[in-house]
Amino acid sequence: MLTRFREMWRKRSRREEIYSRPAFWNDKADSHAGSAASMFINPTLNEYYQREQFAFFDTALGNVTGHRILDVGCGTGRVSRHLAERGAIVSAFDFAEKAIEIARQESGAHRIDYSVASVSDVELKDESHNEIVVLGCLTLACNTAEDFVHVLKKLHAALNPGGKLVLIEPFHQGFLHRVLRLSKSEAIALIQKNGFEVFAVQEMHFWPLRLCLTLGETPAWITRTLYPAGEAILRMSPKVLGLGDYKGIAARRLP
Ligand SMILES: C[S@@+](CC[C@H](N)C(=O)[O-])C[C@H]1O[C@@H](n2cnc3c(N)ncnc32)[C@H](O)[C@@H]1O
Repeated sequence: MLTRFREMWRKRSRREEIYSRPAFWNDKADSHAGSAASMFINPTLNEYYQREQFAFFDTALGNVTGHRILDVGCGTGRVSRHLAERGAIVSAFDFAEKAIEIARQESGAHRIDYSVASVSDVELKDESHNEIVVLGCLTLACNTAEDFVHVLKKLHAALNPGGKLVLIEPFHQGFLHRVLRLSKSEAIALIQKNGFEVFAVQEMHFWPLRLCLTLGETPAWITRTLYPAGEAILRMSPKVLGLGDYKGIAARRLP
């Protein structure tokens, strides 16, 4: 446990450098199995997280049958597959080629159009998508608020007018930030300033518990006992405290 904590601390202290490179994500995809290849090392926690993330996407997107949806920073393709199962026509990209290799292997029957690309320089056709989803990529891919605005403009152009952009990202200014240092309210303000109307915001994944439950090989029963308590605290706490690690933000492109 102590070794794991030291390893986590070492990575956190160099996180801007490590997390923004494909090598880290290729290595993670190569060395971890199942959900841990693009999520945390605790599979039981990942199950809870995935259920909540998919619920946020499903509520924000509504019926997606026949819709063209882009999954940005798709990792091993779990969100892409979920949307394809719901009837969407999904294209997806990630800059980690190993993750894309796994996504292709695991998505056999789904006919998802995967490619290797970075969100910083990918070229997207104007008004080519009904919806765009992003889970945990922009706070790694963007170093500054200017980078974030650059990506927002690109995604805005790639959406049909009225199309939805649904993000689930760990927006933080302080200790919990990944690469991008941006609070939830700053992120929302930039999204609104760049041609979107925000229609849903949700605090997700109570962060104090997230830190504890991702330190080591936590037995499933511990996660199952503690997780509901953490979520109850999150639901009862004032939103302004920002106790969610991830922030779900759903926006609609203004014409
Ligand atoms: C936390 S993982 C999430 C993966 C996936 N969205 C999921 O939820 O399972 C973040 C992903 O973002 C990708 N990523 C980071 N920076 C990127 C960039 N500049 N362009 C494309 N993908 C990027 C990583 O390779 C990684 O697969």
